[in-house]
Amino acid sequence: MWGGRFAEGPSAVMREINASIGFDKRLWPQDLRASKAHVAMLAKQGVVDAADAAAITEGLDRIADEFAAHGVTEDLSLEDIHMHVEHRLAELIGPTAGRLHTARSRNDQVATDFRLWVRDATDEVLAALAALQRALVQRAEEHAETVMPGFTHLQVAQPVTLGHHLMAYYEMIRRDASRFADARARANECPLGAAALAGTGFPIDRAATAAALGFERPTANSLDSVSDRDFALDYLMAATQCSLHLSRLAEEFIIWASQPYGFVSLPDAYSTGSSIMPQKRNPDAAELVRGHSGRIAGAMNALVMTMKGLPLAYSKDMQDDKPPVFEAHDLLGLSLAAITGMVETTTFNPGKMRAAAEAGHSTATDLADWLVRVGGIPFREAHHITGRAVKRADELGAALWDLPLEELQRIDPRIEVSVFDVLSVDASVRSRTSHGGTAPSAVRQRIAEAKRLLGVGE
Ligand code: ARG
Repeated sequence: MWGGRFAEGPSAVMREINASIGFDKRLWPQDLRASKAHVAMLAKQGVVDAADAAAITEGLDRIADEFAAHGVTEDLSLEDIHMHVEHRLAELIGPTAGRLHTARSRNDQVATDFRLWVRDATDEVLAALAALQRALVQRAEEHAETVMPGFTHLQVAQPVTLGHHLMAYYEMIRRDASRFADARARANECPLGAAALAGTGFPIDRAATAAALGFERPTANSLDSVSDRDFALDYLMAATQCSLHLSRLAEEFIIWASQPYGFVSLPDAYSTGSSIMPQKRNPDAAELVRGHSGRIAGAMNALVMTMKGLPLAYSKDMQDDKPPVFEAHDLLGLSLAAITGMVETTTFNPGKMRAAAEAGHSTATDLADWLVRVGGIPFREAHHITGRAVKRADELGAALWDLPLEELQRIDPRIEVSVFDVLSVDASVRSRTSHGGTAPSAVRQRIAEAKRLLGVGE
């Protein structure tokens, strides 16, 4: 395709290092789509005559059928998907095929194809994120009243509700969706027509190809158009952040499924057995989601490193932009499907959660708050008094609320019987009605908002 000035063909190593067909064949639907839009525009502008444009379009449609039916047959000497398509088109319709590449270059072509691919990928992720949010909201609603320990430092801190805990992940995933939507909006400009780097002298209509491909507008600078991979980086950064959230939820499932916790029983469908220990049920899917987040972050780093320091405009380094995005997308898709399945089908064990919340004096803050509210004691002093009550309870091997009133009054005579109203885990969670708090009433309010945002009926 470019051999005019060469006396010799490439070495075997050159062919191998140069070839991207092994991975960029995935762009074939986008490549054919963009080529059809390009040739339609060339015909409309009178750059290619109508009969040639019709032959090219027909040829492209036929190639689409062939690829859909049999896949792309790789030929290293044809380098990449763009050359494979052009070569096949020439086999099908003869030298007229050569008119398709008028007023464009592989540089703007690959930038366009890849944007289209990332845009499609983003739409898939957005649908998957919506499904995960719906699953979280549904399980949160089921468990709006289920008491569990809330942790800091993985130490029992204060009682919370499982609904509240699940809705924390809903908030993360909602932000992820907004990051992907934001990335999509920014990526939605069409580089086609920037040609090699400087634009073209042919009377092309860039607005027409942009519109035909569903882009908001053509890109504004031809140099930037062929060298910009921000859209891929935006995707990878959003994917990385999302996968971090998924890894944290996966980690919670792993901890909760461990026998000393026993907060959940993971579904068989997302667990594996051990070949030696018959009793085992391992949270492999959750562990792989946790693991995949490392690979996704690695993919993001790979493209960051590839793009660092590249001068304008196109450099061949940029051919390496695709494998990390493809890898990250595949891993993220699997991770989202696995996590969504686990959220939907995991059996929660409210009894174990409650027992854990009741251990560890999780309502100590409620005692301190009561001393402030009812006793008029400054919080720091109340904190100290409560610390002594906790110490006494530990000495007696009792829960805070099982301490006799006399014991509490020996610690501080201002304590009265009404303190017992606030010491249970249920009273504790019920009382935390501040905006965004764990009280079932507050959680239900947020669930209702989330359902509205997700378009889920009551
Ligand atoms: N396969 C190449 C890529 O993915 C297409 C662009 C080639 N451009 C060039 N000037 N050699 O980046």
